[in-house]
Amino acid sequence: MDIVSVLETNIVSVVMGFLCIILFLKNRGKQNLHSRLPPGPSPLPIVGNLFQMDVKQPYKFYLEISKKYGSVFTVWLGSKPVVVLSGYETIKDALVSQGEEFSGRANYPVLMKVTRGYGLLASSGSSWRDLRRFSITTLKNFGMGQRSLAERIQDEAKNLVEAFRKHGDSAFNPKQLLCNAVSNIIYSIVFGQRLDYDDKQFKFLLSVINNYFNFLSSSKGQLYNMFPWVCQHLPGPHHQVFEGFRKLQKYVEKEADRRLEDLDRESPRDYIEAFLVRMEEEKGQPHSSFVYENLVASVWSLFSAGTETTSSTLRHSLLLMQKYPHVQERIQREIDEVIGSSRCPSVQDRQNMPYTDAIIHEIQRTIDLAPTSLPHKMMRDTEFKGYCIPKDTMVLPLLSSVLSDPKLWKNPHTFDPGNFLAEDGSFKKADAFLPFGLGKRVCPGEGLARMELFLFFTSLLQRFTFSSTQPLEEIDISPECSSFGKVPRSYHCYATLRS
Ligand code: HEM
Repeated sequence: MDIVSVLETNIVSVVMGFLCIILFLKNRGKQNLHSRLPPGPSPLPIVGNLFQMDVKQPYKFYLEISKKYGSVFTVWLGSKPVVVLSGYETIKDALVSQGEEFSGRANYPVLMKVTRGYGLLASSGSSWRDLRRFSITTLKNFGMGQRSLAERIQDEAKNLVEAFRKHGDSAFNPKQLLCNAVSNIIYSIVFGQRLDYDDKQFKFLLSVINNYFNFLSSSKGQLYNMFPWVCQHLPGPHHQVFEGFRKLQKYVEKEADRRLEDLDRESPRDYIEAFLVRMEEEKGQPHSSFVYENLVASVWSLFSAGTETTSSTLRHSLLLMQKYPHVQERIQREIDEVIGSSRCPSVQDRQNMPYTDAIIHEIQRTIDLAPTSLPHKMMRDTEFKGYCIPKDTMVLPLLSSVLSDPKLWKNPHTFDPGNFLAEDGSFKKADAFLPFGLGKRVCPGEGLARMELFLFFTSLLQRFTFSSTQPLEEIDISPECSSFGKVPRSYHCYATLRS
C-alpha cells in the first residue's frame, strides 16, 4: 500500500468516526428532548405508529387512544413525534392560555410543498402576525362583517337559485354550483369581481382547489405527509395536484402584475391591490412581511380555505335535508313564517329563526369538517401539563374530541338539533362548538362562513324542496374520505320548486 492510500484510508476513518459521534450526539440530544414528551403508543423505527392507525381516518385512532393516554399524548407520524390535544379544556388551555407558544403552523409536507412556508395559512411568528392583521383588516374593509358583504351573498344566492332552477325536474349533482357560488364571494374580495359559473378559468381554479383538498384528505395525502422523501419520487396523484397549484400560482402572479400597471393607491379595489400598495410602502425594509411570495400564498390561502370548507358544508347540508325530510319541512315552515316568499333572506332574520340556526350549528357539529384542525407547531420549548414539548414539534388539536364529547352534548353521535335548542325553543349557545378552531389561529373567515351558510341555505330552502334519487334508508351521510378534512359525498338530487 502506498503512502497516499494509507493517508486516504486514515482520513476516511477519521471522517466516519466524526460522523458517528455527531449522529450519536444529535440523537442523544433528540432523545433528551423527546424523553419528556407526553406518553403514547410505542412507535416502530421509521414508520412510527403507521401500522396501528387507519390512514383513511387517523382521527378515529386518536379518539380511541385518548381513552388510554388521556388528553395529551404523542403519536409518531413516520419518524416525527406529533402531540395530540384532546378535549375542550386541554385544547383551550393550550390554544388560549398558552396561545403564543402553540401559535406556529407545522411544516406539514403537503402544505409546505405548495406554500414553501409563505402566506397567512402556512407562516409562523412575526410574518404570520403581520399577514393575519393585514388580512383581517383588509377583509373587513372589503365588506366582511358589514352589510355590503351580506348584499353580495344575497345577490349570489339569487344566481345560485337560478342555476338550480334550470335543472327543472331532472336530478343533478349540486357540487359544482355550490362551489361556484361560495367561491365567488371570496373571489370578489380577493380579485375584485365575480365570475360566471361556466367561465372556463373559474372551473379550472376550482378544480385545482378541489383536487388539492381531496388529495390532502385521502390516505395517499396522509402517507405523503409521513414520508415525503419517498412519495415525491413515486408516481401518483400528487404530481398533478402540485402541477395544478403551480398554474394557480401563475394566475395570481398575472393578476398581481396586471394591477401593478394601474395601481390605485388611494382606494385599492381588492385584496391583491391592497397588498401591492403595502408592498410598495414597505419597499426597502429588510424584514418586511409584505413580499411577493407572501402575496401569492396568502391569496391562495384565502381563496382555497374560503371555498372548499363552506361549499362542502352546504353540500352536506342538502344531503341531510334529503335524509331527514321532517327537518327540511320544519325549516321551511320557519322560513315561511319569518321571511315569506316575496323577499330574500337577510342576516337579521337569523335571530328570529332559532330552529334553522340550531340546524346549521348541528350540521357543522356533526360534519366535523376539520377533525384535527390545521396542524400547529410549538414556537418554543414549552412546559404543558407536566410534559415538555420541544420547539417545532407538530401539535394537532383534536376538534373532533370536543364536537363529539358525550359530557358536552346531549346526543353526541346523532343528528339532533336539540343540542342547540333550549326547552322553550330558543337558540342555545354552546362553548364546545369549535368547528372553526380556537385561540390566536382561529379561522379568520368564521364571520363570513356563518353568513354564507345562513343566507345560501335559507335562500335554497325558501325556493326548493330537496329529495334524493335513492330510498331514504340508503342515503349515506358518512364522509367520502376523512384523513385531513372530512370530504362529504357527492350525490345527485332533485330540487323541486316550491309553490
Ligand atoms: C365552514 C367553513 C369553515 C370552517 C369549518 C373553517 C375551519 C377552519 C379551521 C378549523 C381552521 C384552523 C384553525 C387553527 O389553525 O387552529 C381554519 C383556518 C383558516 N381559515 Fe377557515 N374555516 C371555514 C371557512 C373559511 C373561510 C370562508 C375563509 C376565508 C376567509 C377561511 C380562511 C381561513 C384561513 C386563511 C385560515 C388560516 C388562519 C391562520 O393560519 O392564521 N376559512 N379554518
